[in-house]
Amino acid sequence: RRFLQTAAVLAAGIVLAACGKKEEPAAVEPAASAPAPAPAPTVYAVGTDAAYAPFESQDEKGEIVGFDIDVLKAIAAKAGFEVKFINTPWEGIFNSLGQGDRDIVISAVTITDERKQTLDFSDAYFDAAQLIAVRDNSKVTKFADLKKLKVGVQTGTTGDEAVTKLQGKTSTNIKRFESTPLALKELESGGVDAVVADNGVVIHHVANNPGAKFKTISDTEFAPEQYGIAVKKGNTAVLEKINQGLAGIKADGTYDQIYTKYFGAPPAKAEAPA
Ligand code: ARG
Repeated sequence: RRFLQTAAVLAAGIVLAACGKKEEPAAVEPAASAPAPAPAPTVYAVGTDAAYAPFESQDEKGEIVGFDIDVLKAIAAKAGFEVKFINTPWEGIFNSLGQGDRDIVISAVTITDERKQTLDFSDAYFDAAQLIAVRDNSKVTKFADLKKLKVGVQTGTTGDEAVTKLQGKTSTNIKRFESTPLALKELESGGVDAVVADNGVVIHHVANNPGAKFKTISDTEFAPEQYGIAVKKGNTAVLEKINQGLAGIKADGTYDQIYTKYFGAPPAKAEAPA
């Protein structure tokens, strides 16, 4: 009886083995002729100082939103990678690339020669300039008027650089804040006489805080600035994907669509050379 059972098990095993062998090629064939499954796209960690509306900020649910976010998401979709945005303080944001904590920084970062020594930048994706915010009863009419006044800036920004250049490195009248909204709050409460920051952010703040009673002053003394997306120096693999995606969304109208969503009209086109 035991022998019969064993024989039956063995026989079943042989049949199964035979079936398995027979089916094997059939199972392999369709897979070989079908396109290879796409490898899971790489997810890049993206640092952004999300206190900089309309470029990057947190909505009521704590989600990071804004122009920069939409632009990089569109670039990623075009170039075939994925992004995860991580709120990152401005101070130290560039070090996070060097340390490998972040793969990409998009944070309304102005491309400067100094930063280019330690970072690599994508092609420019936005034109900007510094803009002065003052209370609406201020007598300030131009940047030079800020020479002896108390001025608020976000530490380590191009606004900080401009005011430091005007007042001198040893000036005690520059008040540095960890975020631009904090500097603007200080202007509202009278702690500083002016704030110098990126035009898009100042305009957005003034429009959304009518109670603050600010006015803005532009000055051609401020150098034109361009925002770029930053990666660790030498990370050409990621940089090439970003530039390819950026060119793609500029060519297919997606970039203009996003720009219009945030700024009401597409970007002014550079004059065609005569
Ligand atoms: N464009 C200026 C700079 O690069 C300010 C950028 C600040 N960005 C931010 N998300 N806080 O210095």
